[in-house]
Amino acid sequence: MRYVHVSASGKINPALYVGPVRPDGYHDLDIFFESLDIFDEIEAKIARSGPVALQLKGDAEGVPADSTNLAVRAAELLRERYNVEQSAELIITKRIPVAGGMAGGSANAAGALLACNELWELGLSQQELMDIGADIGADVPFCLLGSLARGAGKGEKLHSIQPGNMHFWVLVTFDDGLSTPAVFTKLDELRAERGEDSDQALAKAKARADQLEALLSEQDTAKPAQLMTNQLQEAALALRPDLAAAVETISEFGLVTILSGSGPTIGILGEDYDSANAIAGHVRHLLPDATVRRANGPAAGAHLRHAE
Ligand code: C5P
Repeated sequence: MRYVHVSASGKINPALYVGPVRPDGYHDLDIFFESLDIFDEIEAKIARSGPVALQLKGDAEGVPADSTNLAVRAAELLRERYNVEQSAELIITKRIPVAGGMAGGSANAAGALLACNELWELGLSQQELMDIGADIGADVPFCLLGSLARGAGKGEKLHSIQPGNMHFWVLVTFDDGLSTPAVFTKLDELRAERGEDSDQALAKAKARADQLEALLSEQDTAKPAQLMTNQLQEAALALRPDLAAAVETISEFGLVTILSGSGPTIGILGEDYDSANAIAGHVRHLLPDATVRRANGPAAGAHLRHAE
């Protein structure tokens, strides 16, 4: 192959429960993922040799264009594991908000794995790519799988959930991102101050999470919305007073919010297409400084658009 084009979707987390920190620095999670129809485009061109190169386009402010970029790391890991002599030039067009809790970097890594698997004709299965992706980041396996899923471990032990309906989301995004490790550390601190046991926090959430899983496969969208919880939210709000103020404003208006991942993106689930559009209009008035957009899910995970 000479050229491969892949689209890779961002995600929201309909629920996220956090357990104890593990020896590898990750936390055990019970996490729900939903792909949204906001896509980054990953193009890969064949190069004869040298390190994998990267060019960024679109809304890429704050994204590294060097070897620390997750897409470059993913492509280099694939090369190393499978002794690939050829190299690649990656071109990524960013649309997923950066550092927003929507897995933008992980989606790019997933897209790079899928694109380079085709470009270098490695013939790896989705599961093999997901296993390699887990070594790059906790969200990368889901970004390959897509749609709707629940994850255990650090979020990489996934099973798919059959979606019962489409979800019409309103997303509130902010210019300033949040650091994922900082949010997890803040939650550990808040729990330590309260003497709260993280093992128990995860175990206690299981029944509610099981109920959410069952409801997500039913047609009704109002009931699952009532069970959506993110245990990272209090930590994210503690770190970001502006985010706490935005959540309060939306809640006072009578809408239920859910933080995506470690934030700061906030999701609001509309009952249908029209009500989601109406909610987006209201929230734009409530928060004139934030960016409000619509997104629908579940969408496909990283997928091939073109290869030649
Ligand atoms: O895997 P990823 O690079 O996306 O994770 C970023 C950071 O978020 C990790 O280094 C860790 O500090 C935190 N994290 C965690 N537990 C998880 C996922 C992420 O503590 N399950």
